[in-house]
Amino acid sequence: MANQDDKFKKVIAHAKEYGYIFGSSEIYDGLSAVYDYGQNGVELKKNIRDYWWKSMVYMHQNIVGLDASIFMHPTTWKASGHVDAFSDPLIDNKDSKKRYRADVLVEDYAEKLNIKAEKEITKAKKRFGETFDEAQFKATNPRVVKYLTQKEEVLQRLAKSLGDENLADVKALIEELGIADPDTGSKNWTDVRQFNLMFGTKLGASAQTATDLYLRPETAQGIFVNFLNVQKTGRMKIPFGIAQTGKAFRNEIVARQFIFRMREFEQMEMQFFVRPGEEMKWYEYWKETRLKWHTSLGLGDENYRFHDHDKLAHYANAAADIEFNFPFGFKELEGIHSRTDFDLKAHEEFSGKKLQFFDPELKESYVPYVVETSLGLDRMFLAVFATALQEEQLEDGSSRVVLKLPAVVAPVKAAIFPLVKKDGLPEIAAQIVDTLKWKFNVVYDEKDAIGRRYRRQDANGTPFCITVDHDTITDQSVTIRDRDTMEQKRVPIASLATLIAEKTDAEHWLG
Ligand code: GAP
Repeated sequence: MANQDDKFKKVIAHAKEYGYIFGSSEIYDGLSAVYDYGQNGVELKKNIRDYWWKSMVYMHQNIVGLDASIFMHPTTWKASGHVDAFSDPLIDNKDSKKRYRADVLVEDYAEKLNIKAEKEITKAKKRFGETFDEAQFKATNPRVVKYLTQKEEVLQRLAKSLGDENLADVKALIEELGIADPDTGSKNWTDVRQFNLMFGTKLGASAQTATDLYLRPETAQGIFVNFLNVQKTGRMKIPFGIAQTGKAFRNEIVARQFIFRMREFEQMEMQFFVRPGEEMKWYEYWKETRLKWHTSLGLGDENYRFHDHDKLAHYANAAADIEFNFPFGFKELEGIHSRTDFDLKAHEEFSGKKLQFFDPELKESYVPYVVETSLGLDRMFLAVFATALQEEQLEDGSSRVVLKLPAVVAPVKAAIFPLVKKDGLPEIAAQIVDTLKWKFNVVYDEKDAIGRRYRRQDANGTPFCITVDHDTITDQSVTIRDRDTMEQKRVPIASLATLIAEKTDAEHWLG
Protein backbone atom coordinates (compact mmCIF):
# COMPACT_ATOMS: atom_id res chain seq x y z
CA MET A 1 0.00 0.00 0.00
CA ALA A 2 2.82 2.37 0.92
CA ASN A 3 4.36 1.61 -2.46
CA GLN A 4 1.09 2.28 -4.23
CA ASP A 5 0.67 5.62 -2.44
CA ASP A 6 4.20 6.52 -3.31
CA LYS A 7 3.71 5.68 -6.98
CA PHE A 8 0.46 7.64 -7.07
CA LYS A 9 2.10 10.71 -5.52
CA LYS A 10 4.78 10.54 -8.20
CA VAL A 11 2.11 10.38 -10.91
CA ILE A 12 0.41 13.52 -9.56
CA ALA A 13 3.68 15.41 -9.17
CA HIS A 14 4.87 14.43 -12.66
CA ALA A 15 1.54 15.46 -14.18
CA LYS A 16 2.02 18.92 -12.74
CA GLU A 17 5.74 19.30 -13.40
CA TYR A 18 5.37 18.46 -17.11
CA GLY A 19 2.29 20.59 -17.78
CA TYR A 20 -0.25 17.78 -17.93
CA ILE A 21 -2.60 18.58 -15.03
CA PHE A 22 -2.95 21.50 -12.62
CA GLY A 23 -5.42 21.97 -9.79
CA SER A 24 -8.24 24.29 -10.85
CA SER A 25 -7.81 27.97 -9.89
CA GLU A 26 -4.73 27.02 -7.94
CA ILE A 27 -3.76 30.61 -7.08
CA TYR A 28 -6.90 30.67 -4.91
CA ASP A 29 -5.93 27.34 -3.31
CA GLY A 30 -7.84 25.30 -5.87
CA LEU A 31 -11.28 23.76 -5.97
CA SER A 32 -11.69 20.25 -4.70
CA ALA A 33 -12.04 17.56 -7.38
CA VAL A 34 -11.81 20.05 -10.26
CA TYR A 35 -8.70 20.08 -12.49
CA ASP A 36 -7.23 21.93 -15.46
CA TYR A 37 -5.27 20.31 -18.27
CA GLY A 38 -2.02 22.04 -19.18
CA GLN A 39 -0.19 22.34 -22.48
CA ASN A 40 0.64 18.64 -22.67
CA GLY A 41 -2.49 17.43 -20.90
CA VAL A 42 -4.79 19.06 -23.40
CA GLU A 43 -2.97 17.26 -26.25
CA LEU A 44 -2.99 13.88 -24.54
CA LYS A 45 -6.68 14.26 -23.74
CA LYS A 46 -7.49 15.31 -27.30
CA ASN A 47 -5.52 12.39 -28.72
CA ILE A 48 -7.30 9.88 -26.48
CA ARG A 49 -10.63 11.40 -27.49
CA ASP A 50 -9.67 11.18 -31.20
CA TYR A 51 -8.52 7.59 -30.79
CA TRP A 52 -11.89 6.71 -29.28
CA TRP A 53 -13.82 8.70 -31.92
CA LYS A 54 -11.94 7.05 -34.79
CA SER A 55 -12.56 3.57 -33.43
CA MET A 56 -16.24 4.19 -32.71
CA VAL A 57 -17.42 6.53 -35.48
CA TYR A 58 -15.00 6.17 -38.42
CA MET A 59 -14.52 2.41 -38.02
CA HIS A 60 -18.26 1.67 -37.86
CA GLN A 61 -20.41 2.61 -40.86
CA ASN A 62 -23.49 2.44 -38.64
CA ILE A 63 -22.26 4.83 -35.90
CA VAL A 64 -22.46 8.60 -36.22
CA GLY A 65 -21.53 11.46 -33.91
CA LEU A 66 -23.43 14.15 -32.04
CA ASP A 67 -22.63 17.21 -29.94
CA ALA A 68 -25.64 17.98 -27.74
CA SER A 69 -25.81 20.85 -25.25
CA ILE A 70 -24.89 20.62 -21.61
CA PHE A 71 -28.12 22.43 -20.68
CA MET A 72 -31.24 20.43 -21.39
CA HIS A 73 -34.93 20.90 -20.73
CA PRO A 74 -35.37 20.06 -17.04
CA THR A 75 -38.03 17.43 -17.78
CA THR A 76 -35.26 15.37 -19.40
CA TRP A 77 -33.93 14.55 -15.94
CA LYS A 78 -37.34 13.76 -14.55
CA ALA A 79 -37.91 11.30 -17.41
CA SER A 80 -34.47 9.74 -17.15
CA GLY A 81 -34.98 9.04 -13.44
CA HIS A 82 -32.08 11.23 -12.36
CA VAL A 83 -34.22 13.60 -10.30
CA ASP A 84 -35.61 10.74 -8.25
CA ALA A 85 -32.88 8.13 -8.31
CA PHE A 86 -29.47 9.60 -9.12
CA SER A 87 -28.14 9.63 -5.62
CA ASP A 88 -25.46 8.09 -3.49
CA PRO A 89 -25.96 6.57 -0.03
CA LEU A 90 -23.93 8.74 2.36
CA ILE A 91 -22.84 8.24 5.91
CA ASP A 92 -21.12 10.68 8.27
CA ASN A 93 -18.68 9.89 10.98
CA LYS A 94 -19.84 11.74 14.10
CA ASP A 95 -16.35 12.10 15.54
CA SER A 96 -14.30 13.07 12.49
CA LYS A 97 -17.25 14.89 10.82
CA LYS A 98 -16.13 13.28 7.58
CA ARG A 99 -18.62 12.14 5.00
CA TYR A 100 -18.31 8.86 3.08
CA ARG A 101 -20.21 6.87 0.52
CA ALA A 102 -21.61 3.99 2.52
CA ASP A 103 -21.46 1.59 -0.44
CA VAL A 104 -17.82 2.47 -1.08
CA LEU A 105 -16.88 1.76 2.54
CA VAL A 106 -18.39 -1.72 2.20
CA GLU A 107 -16.87 -2.29 -1.25
CA ASP A 108 -13.43 -1.31 0.07
CA TYR A 109 -13.88 -3.82 2.89
CA ALA A 110 -14.75 -6.52 0.31
CA GLU A 111 -11.73 -5.58 -1.79
CA LYS A 112 -9.48 -6.08 1.25
CA LEU A 113 -10.80 -9.66 1.53
CA ASN A 114 -10.02 -10.12 -2.14
CA ILE A 115 -6.47 -8.83 -1.64
CA LYS A 116 -5.98 -11.27 1.25
CA ALA A 117 -7.09 -14.15 -1.00
CA GLU A 118 -4.80 -12.94 -3.82
CA LYS A 119 -1.87 -12.84 -1.41
CA GLU A 120 -2.43 -16.49 -0.42
CA ILE A 121 -2.64 -17.43 -4.10
CA THR A 122 0.58 -15.58 -4.96
CA LYS A 123 2.40 -17.25 -2.05
CA ALA A 124 1.21 -20.70 -3.13
CA LYS A 125 2.17 -20.00 -6.75
CA LYS A 126 5.71 -19.29 -5.62
CA ARG A 127 5.81 -22.40 -3.44
CA PHE A 128 4.45 -24.88 -6.01
CA GLY A 129 5.96 -23.35 -9.15
CA GLU A 130 5.00 -24.95 -12.48
CA THR A 131 2.73 -27.57 -10.94
CA PHE A 132 0.41 -24.98 -9.37
CA ASP A 133 -3.26 -25.37 -10.26
CA GLU A 134 -4.80 -21.99 -9.42
CA ALA A 135 -8.42 -22.97 -9.98
CA GLN A 136 -8.11 -26.00 -7.70
CA PHE A 137 -6.29 -24.00 -5.02
CA LYS A 138 -8.99 -21.29 -5.10
CA ALA A 139 -11.71 -23.92 -4.71
CA THR A 140 -10.07 -25.93 -1.93
CA ASN A 141 -7.69 -23.85 0.19
CA PRO A 142 -9.69 -23.13 3.38
CA ARG A 143 -8.33 -19.61 3.91
CA VAL A 144 -8.87 -18.55 0.28
CA VAL A 145 -12.36 -20.09 0.26
CA LYS A 146 -13.18 -18.25 3.51
CA TYR A 147 -12.02 -14.86 2.19
CA LEU A 148 -13.74 -15.19 -1.18
CA THR A 149 -17.00 -16.48 0.31
CA GLN A 150 -17.03 -13.67 2.84
CA LYS A 151 -16.39 -11.16 0.07
CA GLU A 152 -19.30 -12.50 -2.01
CA GLU A 153 -21.64 -12.51 1.01
CA VAL A 154 -20.77 -8.92 1.88
CA LEU A 155 -21.29 -7.69 -1.69
CA GLN A 156 -24.54 -9.61 -2.09
CA ARG A 157 -25.93 -8.23 1.16
CA LEU A 158 -24.95 -4.70 0.07
CA ALA A 159 -26.60 -5.18 -3.33
CA LYS A 160 -29.78 -6.46 -1.71
CA SER A 161 -30.00 -3.67 0.86
CA LEU A 162 -29.42 -1.01 -1.81
CA GLY A 163 -31.83 -2.71 -4.20
CA ASP A 164 -34.50 -2.76 -1.49
CA GLU A 165 -33.60 0.84 -0.55
CA ASN A 166 -33.02 -0.50 2.94
CA LEU A 167 -30.50 2.09 4.13
CA ALA A 168 -30.85 0.96 7.74
CA ASP A 169 -29.45 -2.40 6.69
CA VAL A 170 -26.50 -0.74 4.93
CA LYS A 171 -25.67 0.94 8.24
CA ALA A 172 -26.17 -2.35 10.10
CA LEU A 173 -23.76 -4.02 7.67
CA ILE A 174 -21.11 -1.34 8.24
CA GLU A 175 -21.45 -1.83 11.99
CA GLU A 176 -21.45 -5.63 11.82
CA LEU A 177 -18.28 -5.62 9.72
CA GLY A 178 -16.68 -3.22 12.18
CA ILE A 179 -15.82 -0.75 9.42
CA ALA A 180 -14.06 2.29 10.82
CA ASP A 181 -13.48 5.79 9.45
CA PRO A 182 -10.43 5.20 7.19
CA ASP A 183 -8.85 8.43 8.42
CA THR A 184 -9.44 8.25 12.17
CA GLY A 185 -10.49 4.71 13.05
CA SER A 186 -13.73 5.91 14.67
CA LYS A 187 -16.81 3.68 14.37
CA ASN A 188 -19.28 6.31 15.51
CA TRP A 189 -21.57 6.51 12.43
CA THR A 190 -24.75 8.44 11.58
CA ASP A 191 -27.62 6.83 9.65
CA VAL A 192 -27.21 6.38 5.91
CA ARG A 193 -29.02 8.96 3.71
CA GLN A 194 -29.50 9.39 -0.04
CA PHE A 195 -27.93 12.48 -1.63
CA ASN A 196 -28.73 13.62 -5.21
CA LEU A 197 -25.62 14.20 -7.31
CA MET A 198 -26.94 16.67 -9.87
CA PHE A 199 -25.80 20.30 -9.82
CA GLY A 200 -28.65 22.77 -10.15
CA THR A 201 -28.49 26.15 -11.86
CA LYS A 202 -30.90 28.76 -13.18
CA LEU A 203 -31.80 29.99 -16.66
CA GLY A 204 -33.33 33.46 -16.99
CA ALA A 205 -32.84 37.07 -15.99
CA SER A 206 -35.02 37.51 -12.92
CA ALA A 207 -35.61 35.36 -9.89
CA GLN A 208 -39.36 35.23 -10.64
CA THR A 209 -39.10 34.01 -14.22
CA ALA A 210 -35.98 31.87 -13.94
CA THR A 211 -36.22 28.17 -14.75
CA ASP A 212 -34.38 25.60 -12.69
CA LEU A 213 -31.91 23.64 -14.76
CA TYR A 214 -29.39 20.91 -14.12
CA LEU A 215 -25.89 20.56 -15.44
CA ARG A 216 -26.05 17.21 -17.24
CA PRO A 217 -24.72 14.35 -15.10
CA GLU A 218 -24.20 12.16 -18.20
CA THR A 219 -24.00 12.86 -21.92
CA ALA A 220 -26.30 9.93 -22.75
CA GLN A 221 -29.58 11.84 -22.42
CA GLY A 222 -28.53 14.28 -25.16
CA ILE A 223 -28.34 11.24 -27.43
CA PHE A 224 -31.72 9.83 -26.40
CA VAL A 225 -33.61 13.08 -26.99
CA ASN A 226 -31.97 13.35 -30.44
CA PHE A 227 -32.60 9.73 -31.36
CA LEU A 228 -35.26 10.50 -33.99
CA ASN A 229 -33.47 13.59 -35.35
CA VAL A 230 -30.37 11.55 -36.13
CA GLN A 231 -32.22 8.42 -37.23
CA LYS A 232 -34.38 10.31 -39.72
CA THR A 233 -31.85 12.83 -41.10
CA GLY A 234 -29.09 10.21 -41.25
CA ARG A 235 -31.52 7.55 -42.60
CA MET A 236 -30.06 5.19 -40.04
CA LYS A 237 -31.27 1.59 -39.86
CA ILE A 238 -31.28 -0.47 -36.72
CA PRO A 239 -28.82 -1.56 -35.39
CA PHE A 240 -27.04 1.82 -35.30
CA GLY A 241 -25.18 3.95 -32.81
CA ILE A 242 -24.78 7.60 -31.83
CA ALA A 243 -21.50 8.61 -30.22
CA GLN A 244 -20.77 11.73 -28.25
CA THR A 245 -18.01 13.19 -26.10
CA GLY A 246 -18.51 16.04 -23.67
CA LYS A 247 -18.55 17.41 -20.17
CA ALA A 248 -20.68 15.96 -17.39
CA PHE A 249 -21.07 17.21 -13.83
CA ARG A 250 -21.69 15.37 -10.57
CA ASN A 251 -21.64 16.70 -7.05
CA GLU A 252 -19.47 13.82 -5.89
CA ILE A 253 -19.24 13.79 -2.13
CA VAL A 254 -16.32 11.50 -1.85
CA ALA A 255 -14.18 13.13 -4.49
CA ARG A 256 -10.66 11.81 -4.23
CA GLN A 257 -7.93 10.04 -6.12
CA PHE A 258 -6.99 12.96 -8.34
CA ILE A 259 -8.77 12.89 -11.70
CA PHE A 260 -10.35 9.48 -10.99
CA ARG A 261 -13.45 11.00 -9.42
CA MET A 262 -14.11 14.60 -10.39
CA ARG A 263 -17.01 16.99 -10.09
CA GLU A 264 -16.58 18.22 -13.67
CA PHE A 265 -15.38 15.55 -16.08
CA GLU A 266 -15.69 14.39 -19.64
CA GLN A 267 -17.46 11.33 -20.92
CA MET A 268 -17.17 9.44 -24.22
CA GLU A 269 -20.44 7.62 -24.68
CA MET A 270 -22.09 5.63 -27.43
CA GLN A 271 -25.70 4.48 -27.46
CA PHE A 272 -26.33 1.53 -29.75
CA PHE A 273 -29.98 1.11 -30.77
CA VAL A 274 -31.04 -2.48 -31.39
CA ARG A 275 -34.11 -4.67 -31.93
CA PRO A 276 -35.84 -5.65 -28.69
CA GLY A 277 -34.66 -9.14 -27.77
CA GLU A 278 -31.27 -8.73 -29.48
CA GLU A 279 -29.76 -6.59 -26.72
CA MET A 280 -27.81 -9.38 -25.01
CA LYS A 281 -26.06 -10.30 -28.25
CA TRP A 282 -24.97 -6.67 -28.71
CA TYR A 283 -24.12 -6.30 -25.04
CA GLU A 284 -21.60 -9.16 -25.42
CA TYR A 285 -20.34 -7.70 -28.69
CA TRP A 286 -19.66 -4.31 -27.13
CA LYS A 287 -18.02 -5.79 -24.04
CA GLU A 288 -15.56 -7.60 -26.26
CA THR A 289 -15.08 -4.71 -28.71
CA ARG A 290 -14.43 -2.17 -25.99
CA LEU A 291 -11.94 -4.41 -24.20
CA LYS A 292 -10.08 -4.86 -27.51
CA TRP A 293 -9.90 -1.08 -27.89
CA HIS A 294 -8.36 -0.74 -24.46
CA THR A 295 -5.80 -3.49 -24.94
CA SER A 296 -4.85 -2.08 -28.36
CA LEU A 297 -3.00 0.68 -26.50
CA GLY A 298 -0.52 -1.84 -25.12
CA LEU A 299 -0.82 -0.95 -21.44
CA GLY A 300 -0.77 -4.66 -20.53
CA ASP A 301 -3.70 -7.09 -20.93
CA GLU A 302 -3.29 -8.14 -17.28
CA ASN A 303 -4.30 -4.63 -16.18
CA TYR A 304 -7.92 -5.08 -17.27
CA ARG A 305 -10.73 -7.19 -15.91
CA PHE A 306 -14.51 -7.29 -16.17
CA HIS A 307 -16.72 -6.74 -13.18
CA ASP A 308 -20.36 -7.74 -13.67
CA HIS A 309 -22.73 -5.60 -11.62
CA ASP A 310 -24.72 -7.20 -8.80
CA LYS A 311 -26.51 -3.93 -8.18
CA LEU A 312 -28.07 -2.66 -11.42
CA ALA A 313 -28.83 1.01 -12.10
CA HIS A 314 -32.48 1.95 -12.44
CA TYR A 315 -32.32 1.68 -16.23
CA ALA A 316 -30.30 -1.48 -16.84
CA ASN A 317 -31.01 -5.22 -17.30
CA ALA A 318 -27.30 -6.10 -17.53
CA ALA A 319 -24.18 -4.11 -16.78
CA ALA A 320 -20.45 -4.65 -16.52
CA ASP A 321 -17.45 -2.47 -15.84
CA ILE A 322 -14.12 -2.74 -17.51
CA GLU A 323 -11.86 -2.27 -14.51
CA PHE A 324 -8.29 -1.08 -14.77
CA ASN A 325 -5.36 -1.60 -12.44
CA PHE A 326 -4.87 2.02 -11.32
CA PRO A 327 -2.05 2.91 -8.88
CA PHE A 328 -4.64 2.39 -6.11
CA GLY A 329 -5.86 -0.99 -7.39
CA PHE A 330 -8.51 -2.26 -9.81
CA LYS A 331 -11.31 0.28 -10.28
CA GLU A 332 -14.01 1.05 -12.85
CA LEU A 333 -12.74 2.58 -16.06
CA GLU A 334 -15.66 2.08 -18.45
CA GLY A 335 -19.25 0.92 -18.11
CA ILE A 336 -21.14 -1.21 -20.63
CA HIS A 337 -24.84 -1.17 -19.93
CA SER A 338 -27.84 -2.80 -21.48
CA ARG A 339 -30.36 0.00 -20.83
CA THR A 340 -33.40 -1.76 -22.32
CA ASP A 341 -36.01 0.66 -23.75
CA PHE A 342 -36.14 2.49 -20.43
CA ASP A 343 -34.91 5.90 -21.61
CA LEU A 344 -36.70 6.18 -24.95
CA LYS A 345 -39.98 4.95 -23.38
CA ALA A 346 -39.64 7.43 -20.53
CA HIS A 347 -38.98 10.30 -22.96
CA GLU A 348 -42.01 9.20 -25.03
CA GLU A 349 -44.13 9.31 -21.91
CA PHE A 350 -42.89 12.67 -20.62
CA SER A 351 -42.73 14.46 -24.00
CA GLY A 352 -45.82 12.92 -25.57
CA LYS A 353 -43.76 12.34 -28.78
CA LYS A 354 -43.24 8.93 -30.36
CA LEU A 355 -39.63 7.77 -30.32
CA GLN A 356 -39.94 4.67 -32.45
CA PHE A 357 -38.33 3.01 -35.42
CA PHE A 358 -40.20 1.41 -38.30
CA ASP A 359 -38.32 -1.80 -39.02
CA PRO A 360 -38.77 -2.52 -42.75
CA GLU A 361 -37.81 -6.19 -42.32
CA LEU A 362 -40.24 -6.86 -39.48
CA LYS A 363 -42.74 -4.38 -40.93
CA GLU A 364 -43.49 -2.99 -37.49
CA SER A 365 -42.60 -0.03 -35.30
CA TYR A 366 -40.98 -0.42 -31.92
CA VAL A 367 -39.05 1.47 -29.27
CA PRO A 368 -35.47 0.24 -29.76
CA TYR A 369 -33.44 -1.27 -26.95
CA VAL A 370 -30.12 0.35 -26.14
CA VAL A 371 -26.67 -0.94 -25.30
CA GLU A 372 -24.37 1.84 -24.16
CA THR A 373 -20.64 2.09 -23.76
CA SER A 374 -19.61 4.84 -21.37
CA LEU A 375 -16.00 5.80 -20.76
CA GLY A 376 -14.65 8.63 -18.62
CA LEU A 377 -12.04 10.50 -20.64
CA ASP A 378 -10.25 11.78 -17.52
CA ARG A 379 -10.19 8.29 -16.05
CA MET A 380 -8.78 6.96 -19.30
CA PHE A 381 -6.17 9.71 -19.17
CA LEU A 382 -5.20 8.61 -15.66
CA ALA A 383 -4.97 4.95 -16.72
CA VAL A 384 -2.69 5.80 -19.64
CA PHE A 385 -0.58 8.36 -17.80
CA ALA A 386 -0.05 6.39 -14.58
CA THR A 387 0.89 3.19 -16.42
CA ALA A 388 3.22 5.04 -18.78
CA LEU A 389 5.20 6.69 -15.99
CA GLN A 390 8.20 4.48 -15.25
CA GLU A 391 11.55 4.72 -13.57
CA GLU A 392 14.17 2.65 -15.33
CA GLN A 393 17.58 1.49 -14.18
CA LEU A 394 20.01 1.75 -17.05
CA GLU A 395 22.98 -0.48 -17.83
CA ASP A 396 25.47 2.25 -16.92
CA GLY A 397 24.05 2.34 -13.38
CA SER A 398 22.11 5.57 -13.87
CA SER A 399 18.34 5.78 -13.98
CA ARG A 400 15.81 7.66 -16.04
CA VAL A 401 12.20 8.74 -15.65
CA VAL A 402 10.33 7.91 -18.83
CA LEU A 403 6.71 8.45 -19.78
CA LYS A 404 6.06 5.53 -22.12
CA LEU A 405 2.82 6.91 -23.54
CA PRO A 406 1.41 4.94 -26.46
CA ALA A 407 2.84 6.92 -29.39
CA VAL A 408 -0.60 7.34 -30.96
CA VAL A 409 -1.78 9.47 -28.01
CA ALA A 410 1.52 11.14 -27.02
CA PRO A 411 1.16 14.96 -27.00
CA VAL A 412 4.38 15.65 -28.91
CA LYS A 413 5.36 13.10 -31.53
CA ALA A 414 8.93 14.25 -32.13
CA ALA A 415 11.44 16.75 -30.78
CA ILE A 416 13.98 18.16 -33.24
CA PHE A 417 17.41 19.18 -31.94
CA PRO A 418 20.39 20.85 -33.57
CA LEU A 419 23.46 19.22 -32.01
CA VAL A 420 24.97 22.69 -31.50
CA LYS A 421 23.56 26.19 -31.82
CA LYS A 422 25.77 27.17 -34.76
CA ASP A 423 27.16 26.11 -38.15
CA GLY A 424 23.71 26.24 -39.77
CA LEU A 425 22.38 23.29 -37.74
CA PRO A 426 19.54 25.26 -36.06
CA GLU A 427 18.32 26.37 -39.50
CA ILE A 428 18.17 22.77 -40.77
CA ALA A 429 16.37 21.65 -37.60
CA ALA A 430 13.87 24.51 -37.99
CA GLN A 431 13.25 23.45 -41.60
CA ILE A 432 12.49 19.90 -40.44
CA VAL A 433 10.03 21.29 -37.88
CA ASP A 434 8.37 23.34 -40.63
CA THR A 435 7.90 20.26 -42.80
CA LEU A 436 6.72 17.89 -40.09
CA LYS A 437 4.38 20.29 -38.30
CA TRP A 438 1.70 19.88 -40.97
CA LYS A 439 1.23 16.27 -39.96
CA PHE A 440 2.48 16.02 -36.38
CA ASN A 441 2.78 18.04 -33.20
CA VAL A 442 6.57 18.53 -33.06
CA VAL A 443 8.84 20.79 -31.01
CA TYR A 444 12.23 22.39 -31.51
CA ASP A 445 14.72 22.32 -28.63
CA GLU A 446 18.29 23.65 -28.65
CA LYS A 447 18.82 24.22 -24.93
CA ASP A 448 21.28 22.16 -22.82
CA ALA A 449 23.50 19.22 -23.70
CA ILE A 450 21.96 16.58 -25.95
CA GLY A 451 21.73 14.00 -23.12
CA ARG A 452 19.66 16.37 -21.01
CA ARG A 453 17.39 17.13 -23.94
CA TYR A 454 16.79 13.39 -24.41
CA ARG A 455 15.92 12.98 -20.72
CA ARG A 456 13.54 15.94 -20.85
CA GLN A 457 11.69 14.44 -23.82
CA ASP A 458 11.67 10.98 -22.19
CA ALA A 459 9.94 12.45 -19.13
CA ASN A 460 7.60 14.37 -21.40
CA GLY A 461 6.53 11.21 -23.23
CA THR A 462 7.83 12.21 -26.69
CA PRO A 463 8.33 9.01 -28.74
CA PHE A 464 11.06 10.35 -31.06
CA CYS A 465 14.04 12.69 -30.79
CA ILE A 466 15.66 13.78 -34.03
CA THR A 467 19.16 15.25 -33.96
CA VAL A 468 20.71 17.33 -36.71
CA ASP A 469 24.53 17.18 -36.71
CA HIS A 470 27.37 18.31 -38.95
CA ASP A 471 27.06 15.27 -41.23
CA THR A 472 23.48 16.29 -41.96
CA ILE A 473 24.80 19.18 -44.02
CA THR A 474 26.37 16.77 -46.48
CA ASP A 475 24.32 13.56 -46.24
CA GLN A 476 20.82 15.01 -45.63
CA SER A 477 20.41 12.44 -42.84
CA VAL A 478 19.67 12.75 -39.12
CA THR A 479 19.80 10.57 -36.04
CA ILE A 480 16.42 9.39 -34.77
CA ARG A 481 16.21 8.06 -31.22
CA ASP A 482 13.42 5.84 -29.96
CA ARG A 483 12.16 6.85 -26.49
CA ASP A 484 11.48 3.31 -25.28
CA THR A 485 14.48 1.39 -26.58
CA MET A 486 16.82 4.42 -26.64
CA GLU A 487 18.13 3.01 -29.93
CA GLN A 488 19.46 5.52 -32.40
CA LYS A 489 19.67 5.13 -36.13
CA ARG A 490 20.69 7.25 -39.04
CA VAL A 491 17.89 7.99 -41.51
CA PRO A 492 17.35 10.35 -44.45
CA ILE A 493 15.40 13.53 -43.59
CA ALA A 494 13.03 12.63 -46.42
CA SER A 495 11.97 9.43 -44.60
CA LEU A 496 11.08 11.08 -41.26
CA ALA A 497 7.38 11.67 -41.91
CA THR A 498 6.85 8.04 -42.92
CA LEU A 499 8.84 6.72 -39.95
CA ILE A 500 6.90 8.81 -37.45
CA ALA A 501 3.55 8.00 -39.05
CA GLU A 502 4.27 4.27 -38.86
CA LYS A 503 4.41 4.50 -35.08
CA THR A 504 1.87 7.23 -34.39
CA ASP A 505 -1.00 6.71 -36.85
CA ALA A 506 -4.18 5.24 -35.38
CA GLU A 507 -4.16 2.70 -38.22
CA HIS A 508 -1.01 1.12 -36.80
CA TRP A 509 -2.69 0.71 -33.38
CA LEU A 510 -6.28 -0.04 -34.28
CA GLY A 511 -5.77 -1.90 -37.55
N1 GAP B 1 -24.40 7.03 -19.14
C1 GAP B 1 -23.98 6.07 -18.18
C2 GAP B 1 -23.09 6.59 -17.16
O1 GAP B 1 -22.90 7.78 -17.05
P1 GAP B 1 -21.53 5.86 -15.19
O2 GAP B 1 -21.05 4.48 -14.83
O3 GAP B 1 -22.18 6.67 -14.15
O4 GAP B 1 -22.51 5.62 -16.41
C3 GAP B 1 -19.63 6.20 -16.92
O5 GAP B 1 -20.32 6.67 -15.79
C4 GAP B 1 -18.15 6.48 -16.82
O6 GAP B 1 -17.93 7.87 -16.58
C5 GAP B 1 -17.45 5.78 -15.66
O7 GAP B 1 -17.07 4.47 -15.99
C6 GAP B 1 -16.24 6.67 -15.44
O8 GAP B 1 -15.22 6.34 -16.36
C7 GAP B 1 -16.78 8.05 -15.78
N2 GAP B 1 -17.13 8.79 -14.55
C8 GAP B 1 -18.27 8.70 -13.83
N3 GAP B 1 -18.24 9.54 -12.78
C9 GAP B 1 -17.04 10.16 -12.84
C10 GAP B 1 -16.40 11.15 -12.03
N4 GAP B 1 -17.01 11.67 -10.98
N5 GAP B 1 -15.15 11.56 -12.37
C11 GAP B 1 -14.53 11.05 -13.46
N6 GAP B 1 -15.09 10.13 -14.26
C12 GAP B 1 -16.32 9.68 -13.96
